[in-house]
Amino acid sequence: MSRPLLNVENLSVTYRTTKGPIEAVRGVSFELGREKLGIVGESGSGKSQTGRAILRLTAANGSVAADRFDFDGIDLLAASEREMRRIRGNRISMILQDPKYSLNPVMKAGDQIAEAYRVHHRTGRRAARERAIEMLSSVLIREPERVYHSYPHELSGGMGQRVMIAMMMIPEPDIIIADEPTSALDVVVQRQVMTTLGRLQKETGASVILVGHDMGLIAQFADTVGVMYAGKLVDVAPIKQMVEEPLHPYSQLLLQSVPGLEEKQERLVGIPGMPPTLINLPPGCLFQPRCPQAIPTCSQVTPVLQSPAGNTGAGERQVACHLYD
Ligand SMILES: Nc1ncnc2c1ncn2[C@@H]1O[C@H](COP(=O)(O)OP(=O)(O)OP(=O)(O)O)[C@@H](O)[C@H]1O
Ligand SMILES: [Mg+2]
Repeated sequence: MSRPLLNVENLSVTYRTTKGPIEAVRGVSFELGREKLGIVGESGSGKSQTGRAILRLTAANGSVAADRFDFDGIDLLAASEREMRRIRGNRISMILQDPKYSLNPVMKAGDQIAEAYRVHHRTGRRAARERAIEMLSSVLIREPERVYHSYPHELSGGMGQRVMIAMMMIPEPDIIIADEPTSALDVVVQRQVMTTLGRLQKETGASVILVGHDMGLIAQFADTVGVMYAGKLVDVAPIKQMVEEPLHPYSQLLLQSVPGLEEKQERLVGIPGMPPTLINLPPGCLFQPRCPQAIPTCSQVTPVLQSPAGNTGAGERQVACHLYD
C-alpha cells in the first residue's frame, strides 16, 4: 500500500456538558490508504464524531486531541482555518445522511451541480450545465434532464442522495466521508446508491470512509472494517476476515444481527442491553456488562487494540478483547 493519506493516532473527542465531560471518541487510531474503510457501530458509538473531527467540524463545546492527526502531511490539529476550508471544499468531502439538509431547497438540483462545477473548475455556464448532466448520468440517474430540472423536494430519497454524491465528486476529493449516506432509504435503493459510490470510488481512486450501523451494507462495500463501541475501535479487520471470523464478541453479535449473512440464521438476534453513557466511565471493557463471554479481568482492565494472540500471517487484524491476550 502507498503512503497513507490519513494517519490517526490516539484521537479523542470530548464534549463539555453540564453533567460532566462526555468522552465521545476515546483513543481511536487508524490509517487510511487508497481504500474503502467501513466504520460500524451502534448509535452513539462515536462514528460521526470521528468523521467530523477529520474535517474539524466538532461542535464548539467539544475538544479534539491526538498524538498524530495528519492528512497528506497536513496536521489537522494545527492547520489554519483557511487551510481547513480548502481541505473541506476540495480534498475531503462529506456525504450526510439526509440530502435535504445539504441541498438548497429553492434551486433546481441540476443548477446546483452546474454552479458548483462552474465555480470549482472556472468554466462557462453552458459547459458546466453539460457536465452536470453527464455527472447525473454517471451516478446512474436514468433521466438526467428531468432530474436536472427538479427541485430537491421533488426528488426521491435515493435520487437526492445520488445528486449529493455527484456534487461531492466535483472537486475530485482524495477522501469521501459518507456518514450513513443511505440510512433513510429502502434496502434496494440503498444497494443502488452504494453501488454508485463504489463505482465512482473505483474510477476516481478516492479513499472512502463509510460510516454506518448496518454491518451487512458495510460488508458489501468496504475493504477493511473497524467496529466502534463506546468511542473506541474494538475490532479492525479486512472485511472477509471480519465476516467469516469476527473476533470481538460485539462484532460477533453485530454480524448475527445481519439477515442473510449467515445462512443458518433463523431469526434476528438483537444485542441485549444498552451502550454505556460516556460520562464517568468505569474501568475495564465497556462492553463487559453486555458480553456473553466476559471473564473476571474484563471488568478491571481496559483491553488494548492489538494483534490477537496466535494471529498468523495477516498482521492488519486487531482486536481489543481479553479473550485474545
Ligand atoms: N455537541 C455535543 N455535545 C455533547 N455531546 C455530544 C455532542 N455531539 C455528540 N455528542 C455525543 O457524542 C457521542 C457520540 O456521538 P456520534 O454522533 O459520534 O455517534 P454515532 O456513532 O455517529 O451515532 P449514530 O449512529 O446515532 O449517528 C454521543 O454520546 C453523543 O451524544
Ligand atoms: Mg452518526
